[in-house]
Amino acid sequence: MPISELLQKARDFEEKYSAFIDASDRPAFHLSPRIGWMNDPNGFSLYQGQYHLFYQYHPYSTQWGPMHWGHAVSRDLLHWEYLPAALAPDRDYDRSGCFSGSAVELDDGRQLLLYTGNREVMQADGSKTCFQTQCAAIGDGLNYEKLDGNPVLTGADVPDGFSVHDFRDPKLYRRPDGAFSCVVGVRTEDKSGATLLYESEDGLSWRYAATLDRSYNEFGKMWECPDFFELDGEQLLLTSPQDMSQAGLEFHNGNGTLCLVGSYDPQARRFERRRVQAIDYGIDFYAPQTLLTADGRRVMIGWMQNWDTCVAHPMGLKWFGQMSLPRELHVREGRLIQNPVRELEALRGRRVIYENVPIRAETVLKGVYGRVLDMTVTVRPQTADGYELFRVKFARGSQHYSSLSYRPESPTVRISRVHSGFNRDFVHERKCLVADRGGEIKLRIILDRYSAEIFVNDGEQALTMTFYTPLTADGISFEAHGKALIDVEKYEILES
Ligand code: FRU
Repeated sequence: MPISELLQKARDFEEKYSAFIDASDRPAFHLSPRIGWMNDPNGFSLYQGQYHLFYQYHPYSTQWGPMHWGHAVSRDLLHWEYLPAALAPDRDYDRSGCFSGSAVELDDGRQLLLYTGNREVMQADGSKTCFQTQCAAIGDGLNYEKLDGNPVLTGADVPDGFSVHDFRDPKLYRRPDGAFSCVVGVRTEDKSGATLLYESEDGLSWRYAATLDRSYNEFGKMWECPDFFELDGEQLLLTSPQDMSQAGLEFHNGNGTLCLVGSYDPQARRFERRRVQAIDYGIDFYAPQTLLTADGRRVMIGWMQNWDTCVAHPMGLKWFGQMSLPRELHVREGRLIQNPVRELEALRGRRVIYENVPIRAETVLKGVYGRVLDMTVTVRPQTADGYELFRVKFARGSQHYSSLSYRPESPTVRISRVHSGFNRDFVHERKCLVADRGGEIKLRIILDRYSAEIFVNDGEQALTMTFYTPLTADGISFEAHGKALIDVEKYEILES
């Protein structure tokens, strides 16, 4: 298969210079870019017995730049092996970037990638305008050839009232009869977001089928990176809007995530939205994508970063950006439930367990520390008076800590990295509403060096944030205003 000069250059660069990155400077079980910059997950799929995860990639610096697709494979969704970069912006139709997209297996065993070709054109007044089209590449899991017939979806396939300048991020799936569908993000004429549905018999020749949903300016602007699937008898549309406005504790300003829960009539191609919620209530989570495992689990992975909060880069690291933990999804009482993939349990090492520990002043428990771990803390009131606040600090050293706190009265959970060592002034705290269970709460905290992912009450809420506190800050402490009782079950995560 011919490899373009631009792709070969990226492959040579990543091979040569990633060797200088020490594995102990990376997250242990979250994917980070082989070198340079990473954003959205792309082509998250099961292909010939392995999970494939591509990603928006600029190998040459830790800043966003002309987008390539990086590539990694895994058998357990946690240990990733890098493969050579899969796509480079080497054609006229994608000359300003191979933007986000997805992957499925074709009947002949080859893998189809569908991605957005971004082409910037200079206007007479010196400004630049993007034209975005959907393009296909077919390969064997290692090398991919862009189709001669590209692009396969152009501005001519965008219905009236939608923009050809913001038309991107196709998410492919195969329907039960084997035919192909994809959902694509688009901007509407009134400058809000929408999701379009396209259909195809062979994955290469596509036609517009329907507008699945749109925002009318109530849920942000351009809806990026859609995904559309059935789960637990409901139909879910996930998307990541730009320019959201804050709404209570559900949505924050800027780039956010949406889960639209409803029903879908495939004959009429009609999606009826019933509920809307955020996907992740933390600081750093965006553009998630899902796959179906061989045993039928719907698993989602997101970019563990956010465009609004990726302004502070850690000094000296040759990589920037991480993927979230892959999360198993369910719908319970109309709400999205997320929990770490069960494969994580196989990586659990030494266990430390405490039961019914009374907590008031800041307390350290022997054996409970670390930056690569899986810990569940169950909290309840010690007396009928209850408690006002419970807080766990982690990545705690003499100068730094991050924290998770719970106020039973509101009832809210708050994450904070105010004291984690960032020296730039942007969002460092976020809180969300949680179920009122009379002061009882279960908090699962996953730490992987530079991140914390919190799963509340068996996945009813997830809150994710990154921080770059020196790794020597590995303490954990517990405190309460009032009297609380806690159980702690903490596992080291084995690195190999
Ligand atoms: C989302 C996004 C996509 C686009 C890609 C470019 O984070 O803006 O819409 O395809 O990133 O890197």
